[in-house]
Amino acid sequence: MQLAHVKELEKKYLLGTYARYELLVDRGNGAYLIDKANKRYLDLLAGIGVNSLGYNHPRVKQVLRKQIKKPLHVSNLMYHEYQGRLAQKLCEISGLDRAFFTNSGTESIEGCLKFARAYGRPKFKILSLDQSFHGRTFGALSATGQKQYREQFEPLVPGFEFIAFNDVQDLERKLTDDVCAVLVETIQGEGGIRPLSEEFYKRARELSAEKGALLIVDEIQCGLGRTGCWYAFHRFAPPSDKAMLPDMVASAKPLGLGIPLGAILLSEKVAAAIQVGQHGTTFGGGPLACRASLEYFKILEEEKVLERVSIIGAYFKKRLEELKDLPVVKEVRGEGLMLAVELKISGKEIVKQLLAEGFIINCTHETVLRMLPPFVITEKQIDKFIRALRPVLEAQKL
Ligand SMILES: Cc1ncc(COP(=O)(O)O)c(C=O)c1O
Repeated sequence: MQLAHVKELEKKYLLGTYARYELLVDRGNGAYLIDKANKRYLDLLAGIGVNSLGYNHPRVKQVLRKQIKKPLHVSNLMYHEYQGRLAQKLCEISGLDRAFFTNSGTESIEGCLKFARAYGRPKFKILSLDQSFHGRTFGALSATGQKQYREQFEPLVPGFEFIAFNDVQDLERKLTDDVCAVLVETIQGEGGIRPLSEEFYKRARELSAEKGALLIVDEIQCGLGRTGCWYAFHRFAPPSDKAMLPDMVASAKPLGLGIPLGAILLSEKVAAAIQVGQHGTTFGGGPLACRASLEYFKILEEEKVLERVSIIGAYFKKRLEELKDLPVVKEVRGEGLMLAVELKISGKEIVKQLLAEGFIINCTHETVLRMLPPFVITEKQIDKFIRALRPVLEAQKL
C-alpha cells in the first residue's frame, strides 16, 4: 500500500486529530526508520520518547518471541510471574515502595490524582505548573497548564490551580494547608524541554511535607534513563535520600519497549490509603508488557546504557550549542538525550524540511525543536544531523 492510498483512507474514515508527517513507516533498524519506498530516516524523536532502544533490537525480539507463546493477557484477578518482579525492579531503581501498573502516561497521572485525593481527604486542591503537560483525559487535562489544550473542554475537574514555572515565591504563596498535592514534571516535555530548578524541587518537597500535601512527579517523558539517570528527579534526590523523594511518580513511554505500559510508584504512606477495589485496570501490567519491561532494565544495566546516555547526550548538546552563532537560535536546553533548540521563529517548516532530508525531529510550543533520540544513537549520526540542521537554520529569515 502506498502513502497516497493510506492518506485517502484515513482522510475518509479516521477522526482527524493528528497532523501527521509525510511518512509511511515500514520497518526500523537501530536509530533508523525506513519507509515503504526504502527511504531511511534518522529518528531523533523515537516515537516521542518510547523507542529508547531503537528498532529491531535482537534481545527485545527474542524475549517477545518467547513470551508470545504464552497467554497474551492475564487479568488482574490472577497472578502472573512478571508483575511482582517488575514492581520490585521499579522500587529498587526509584527509591519508592510500591507500584501500580497502567497502560499509558495519562492513566498513570489519573491514578496519581485519585490516590492523592484518597490520601488527602477531605482536602482536594491540587497544584501544578504553568506550561505543564500531563495528558488529555479530564483529570490529566485539568492538571495541564496550557490553555490551548484545555479551553475547548471546560468546565474541567474542579480543584486545580497553577503555579508560575520555577517561581518559588508563587509556590510558597499557593501551597497552603488546604492543598492535597503538588504535581510537577522534572523536565517539562511538551512545554518546551524546560528543566525544573533544583531550588524549586527542594522547596516543593519541603513545603509539601510541612503542609501535609503530597509531591507527585511526572517522569513520563524524562524518566527511565532519558537523562542518564533512572529518573530525572534523582539529580535532586537520589533513591537513598528518603526525605527528599517524591511521594508518587508517574512513569510510562519506554517502560514496555513499545508495548503499552505505565506505572505509578508510591511511597508506603500513600499506598496505605488505598484499599482493595478502589482502583483498577483491565490491561495494565499484562504479561507481555511486563516481560518486555524486565528486559528493558536488563539491557540498560548489562550494557551500561545510562552512562552512555550521559556521554552521548553531553556530546549532542555541545554540538547543538555550536549553532548558537546563528541569528534564529535563541537557546539550547535539556539533559541527556532530552534536548531542544528554541528558535526566534516557528519551527514547523524546519521539521518538514528536515524530514525531506531524512531526519525526524519535532516542534513543540511553536518555536522549540525537540529531540528525544533513541539511546543507541552514535556520535557519527549526531554529526550527520548537525550537518543537515545548520544550513536549514542558516537559510531562515528572522
Ligand atoms: C510529561 C507527560 N505526561 C503525560 C503524558 C501523557 O502520556 P500518554 O500519551 O502515554 O498518555 C505525556 C505524553 O507525552 C507526557 O510527556
